[in-house]
Amino acid sequence: MPQATSSSQADSRGSRRMAAVGSAVKGLRALFEVEREIVRCLTTFIYRVGDIELKYLLCQHVWESAGHARFIRERGNELGSFGKNEAAREEIRRIFEESIRVDDEIEGLAAFYRVVKGELLYAYRKYLDITHSLADWPSRKLVEEFIQDEERHQAEIQPYIDSAEDAAWVQRLRLALSSQGGWLGVLPKTESPDDFNWRWPDLPYRHPDTCNRGDYPVCSSVFGYDPDEFPICRDWLEDPKTDARIIRLMIYVWLMMELDAVDYLSTVFYETPDAPFDLHYDLARHLWDESRHSAFGFRQLPKLGVDLTTLEHSLSLYNVLIQMTPPERYAMMTMEFEAGSFGTKAHIMDRVRELSDFEADTLLAFDRNDEQQHVRYGHRWLPVIMELFEIDKPVDAFVEETRKRFQELEKTYGKITPHSLSKEKRLTAKKLVQLAGVE
Ligand SMILES: [Fe+2]
Ligand SMILES: [Fe+2]
Repeated sequence: MPQATSSSQADSRGSRRMAAVGSAVKGLRALFEVEREIVRCLTTFIYRVGDIELKYLLCQHVWESAGHARFIRERGNELGSFGKNEAAREEIRRIFEESIRVDDEIEGLAAFYRVVKGELLYAYRKYLDITHSLADWPSRKLVEEFIQDEERHQAEIQPYIDSAEDAAWVQRLRLALSSQGGWLGVLPKTESPDDFNWRWPDLPYRHPDTCNRGDYPVCSSVFGYDPDEFPICRDWLEDPKTDARIIRLMIYVWLMMELDAVDYLSTVFYETPDAPFDLHYDLARHLWDESRHSAFGFRQLPKLGVDLTTLEHSLSLYNVLIQMTPPERYAMMTMEFEAGSFGTKAHIMDRVRELSDFEADTLLAFDRNDEQQHVRYGHRWLPVIMELFEIDKPVDAFVEETRKRFQELEKTYGKITPHSLSKEKRLTAKKLVQLAGVE
């Protein structure tokens, strides 16, 4: 009589039988964790860099990384034993923690792309080498596409990091990663020197108190009532006598200023390391949408005669929200600013349609559709972010409290950024009237 096998013997025989699948899924799992950590940590550079086109580019790359992670997770789950817990392991996370604790943002970004994303590209190529081209064809199709994306990311970032010369910081990060055998852990592990001190355990990461806008002039807010002071006059937007060409210029200024949403939404990822990945996926989409909305204004205003070096960027929302917790920031964004903007924007869309400007109508229609989606995200994810921060109260009560706290903080932090430019030099509603060609 054959002896009955114990369940552990059967398990181990089963896993040996499926060893090839097991090793593919192990690789995919590591790649997933790296991509999701890229989403969590590359976002910390967005509010630190001042170049507007660079901010837009980073938002796009973050969104693509989120897409990679999602497809890898789907494929991993087809293969089984991918794991339900979506958090990155300590060994992967510590490289990312180290990578963001850098003094100069461009040096940091250069190392992030050369080492963190450069080694990811290498790991994808390695995956193709070691997996079976026919048996694991479905993974291969994805990985081939991601390699093209990563090569493009390297080419797209190059002009911005060309000047970075801090070889020591790059070297340090490379050393940290190679001591654990690269992202897949399959390279020969080098020993890190005895004097290698990780920065991150003793140096808490902190978002800056204000965001970087490079050489652009800044101010606290672009919204007001005095046409000699502000580019957007709230009462003009509602006034049926305002010429539609002025309204169009004002809405483009408004859209461009959604760059503040790019900067403050970027802060939420890092602080929610244990969020379900789907939350970060939707936030990454939200982030990319806001960068596109900002680009609507950034690209259209110069065509209408606006000199962007005279348009001050408003920083008050970042300055206030950074004093609040991630659930408070997200609550204000989705439940207050976004949910509260539809009425005014609908009226603006109707006015702009008088101009038969197909492109303007298109941009505004897509903006509206995106914003509706953002409010849906808010309803879905605010309770989850609240739970991550152990806030145990009804969502409505939390939103109401947050609104009051925002108003309090606004008194202190809402006006701390003085105008870079004098009234004469900066773009105001009065100057928009001239640019619009209105008599
Ligand atoms: Fe937006
Ligand atoms: Fe939005």
